[in-house]
Amino acid sequence: MSVAVAKQAKSGKADAKHNLKAVREAYYDRIAKYDMAPLWEVLKDVVRSEPRSKCVPQLWKFADVKRLMLEAGDVISTEEAERRVLVLENPALHGQCRITNSLFAGIQLILPGEVAPVHRHVASAIRFVLDGEGAYTAVEGERASMSPGDFILTPNWAPHDHGNPSGKPMLWLDVLDVPTINHFETSFSEHFDEKMQNTSRGEGDSLERYGSGVLPDGAPVQLKRSPVINYTYARTRPILERLKKSGDIDKRHGARVRYANPINGSWALPTMGAHLALLPDGFKGESYRSTDGMIFVCAEGKGSTKIGDKVFEWGQNDVFVAPPWTRYSHIAAKESVLFSISDRPMQEALGIWREETAH
Ligand SMILES: [Fe+2]
Repeated sequence: MSVAVAKQAKSGKADAKHNLKAVREAYYDRIAKYDMAPLWEVLKDVVRSEPRSKCVPQLWKFADVKRLMLEAGDVISTEEAERRVLVLENPALHGQCRITNSLFAGIQLILPGEVAPVHRHVASAIRFVLDGEGAYTAVEGERASMSPGDFILTPNWAPHDHGNPSGKPMLWLDVLDVPTINHFETSFSEHFDEKMQNTSRGEGDSLERYGSGVLPDGAPVQLKRSPVINYTYARTRPILERLKKSGDIDKRHGARVRYANPINGSWALPTMGAHLALLPDGFKGESYRSTDGMIFVCAEGKGSTKIGDKVFEWGQNDVFVAPPWTRYSHIAAKESVLFSISDRPMQEALGIWREETAH
């Protein structure tokens, strides 16, 4: 190497030291052409010391939801829409069709005389009935009449249709694992030629058959979800009363039951886990957080929930969401019942679910 070349190299190195940022950026530009990127620039965001959700807490007042939903009845028919649903969008995730990062929530309206035709999809769905009486959801040949507080499953790939032979509009909360299915890019769906399923099984068939402490011969033990189609409020609500009377009241969650698969005790669905809880009059819950973002519905009563540093006042049929790993605590202004649902079964299956009570 000549003296001149050596000098030039030395001064280049000095420049590089002084202008490290520019050198790095030039390097990042070079590797980007080969579809590579430096992990060290983003490591702290990729592997966090604790969860930081993109979601924010929010509450939807049922009075607003119902009024706006009924307006949708004038704008589009169920047949045209296939499902007349307004998405409850997390305010931090507008346009992404989700209430938390992993779950979709929406309010569905079906007017008297309407039918939402039979279809099926990989995404699992639940319905929690808010308002109306006597519409139905048919799932796998069982027709379930819908009453407020009923918890209805339409599991992965189960054919389902809805209809409203009653004289009143019917509204319910839909929660689906669609964002998770789309995360895995595994969405399939199909429509059927007929509008409605042939329903061969009577009202309440699966709840009687599997939820009575006996199991019929040949009960499907390998099934990854509950065989029960409708966990009726009429059956579940009195159990909360029993818990309350015997003093089985959790300091964080109240007198709470989990919707379970009666064959093996696991969650009702492999992707979404739901609870029903009674908060006694004057209940002041301890602060709690877990890694699953919680969607709540007030089925009865009145109260408030502090989520992070915000307080949300709720009444009957209001829906609210607490983001993952965000502290929340409930206060009941009178005896109240809260339904809740989250992606906890998925997190538990992966061994990543955590919870923390106040310290
Ligand atoms: Fe559906």
